[in-house]
Amino acid sequence: MLARVRSAAVLGIDAYLVDVETDIANGLPTFATVGLPQGAVKEGRERVYAALANTGYTFPLKRITVNLAPADIRKDGSAFDLPIAVGILAATEQISAERLGRVAVLGELGLEGAIRPVRGALPVALAARTAGLEALVLPRENLPEAGVVSGVRVLGAGNLAELADFLDGRSELPEARVDLAGLLAERAKHDVDFGEVKGQAHAKRALEVAAAGGHNILMIGPPGSGKTMLARRLPTILPQMSLDEALETTKIHSVAGVLPVGESLVARRPFRAPHHTISDAGLIGGGSYPRPGEVSLAHGGVLFLDELPEFRKNVLEVLRQPMEDGVVTIARAAMSLTYPARFMLAAAMNPCPCGYFGDPQHNCVCGPLGVERYLARVSGPLLDRIDIHLEVPAVKY
Ligand SMILES: Nc1ncnc2c1ncn2[C@@H]1O[C@H](COP(=O)(O)OP(=O)(O)OP(=O)(O)O)[C@@H](O)[C@H]1O
Ligand SMILES: [Mg+2]
Repeated sequence: MLARVRSAAVLGIDAYLVDVETDIANGLPTFATVGLPQGAVKEGRERVYAALANTGYTFPLKRITVNLAPADIRKDGSAFDLPIAVGILAATEQISAERLGRVAVLGELGLEGAIRPVRGALPVALAARTAGLEALVLPRENLPEAGVVSGVRVLGAGNLAELADFLDGRSELPEARVDLAGLLAERAKHDVDFGEVKGQAHAKRALEVAAAGGHNILMIGPPGSGKTMLARRLPTILPQMSLDEALETTKIHSVAGVLPVGESLVARRPFRAPHHTISDAGLIGGGSYPRPGEVSLAHGGVLFLDELPEFRKNVLEVLRQPMEDGVVTIARAAMSLTYPARFMLAAAMNPCPCGYFGDPQHNCVCGPLGVERYLARVSGPLLDRIDIHLEVPAVKY
């Protein structure tokens, strides 16, 4: 007997549908998984075996072949446990296959049959909607995250028995319900405000212009003049995120694994301020199993580079391409991934190593050569991409 269960996997920040085909034939008992399964997928058969036995189903002692199509993309993670288990149950007619054609199923199995949460539930829900599926069955813990997608029913199952009852038509599964408008409004609140900045009228004006036009901005001024303070308040004057923008940023944060627990939507424009010791892979993204870098985490918001000349030169130079294109492409031998990276760059620096060049209250001790060398640490091509250069003098108080 053959059964086909729809499922999905994440590649980059998007998901694609995967067909899990299960064939059960007579022959010596074997269990083979094909379609480039990696470690966690291969291990899944032990979990499936135990979960079926502990839920009271029989595991067929026959020749079982599971194919994950498309078969030429590497599949990783534990989310295929559930579709494989359902495929075996359907192929042995222990559950009805009637509802299977219209739903996608995804989840990790515990040995006693419980369904555990998976990563990337949001991109999967979006892919299921695009594919026109009627419903998506996910682990119950993933409902808040995937529930923000409308146009597809997102159902949550707590264990294998519940899912089997649903597929047999004996009961229904709880459906995710999220009040999107409320969520957007509530999450858009900030804990800092521009009203806290005293004076600095022309700096505020420049930041308003930058925010309105999406210009990059560089602030130059002596220590304590409020550059960092001003930059932190920049996201508060940017326009509210639309739902589509929020979803895209949430996808990046969810794939990178930096979405706080219980948070379902990044509805506040991100403000990323990496330390100046960051590596180029940390900034742009990368690693042998690629993950998004700071430029992608700042997508839709502000990337703030404080103490700009302290960043390593090669790190600053890799910024030039994403600033121009709004995307980062990471190529590896096995795959090439593109992450969105449309951000507003805000940078801050002192005018010289001691910080007091041109300051009326202090004497600068650097000398003209020192000042020149300090400024030369930031390359011309990068400065050329920053439209607004702003002097921030210290205010008297
Ligand atoms: N215009 C201002 N209104 C209110 N507080 C201010 C203002 N300017 C500076 N401050 C206070 O001074 C503190 C130091 O400012 P901030 O850290 O932003 O300076 P900076 O320009 O980034 O200095 P550095 O070059 O040393 O990094 C702020 O946290 C804030 O409390
Ligand atoms: Mg500062």
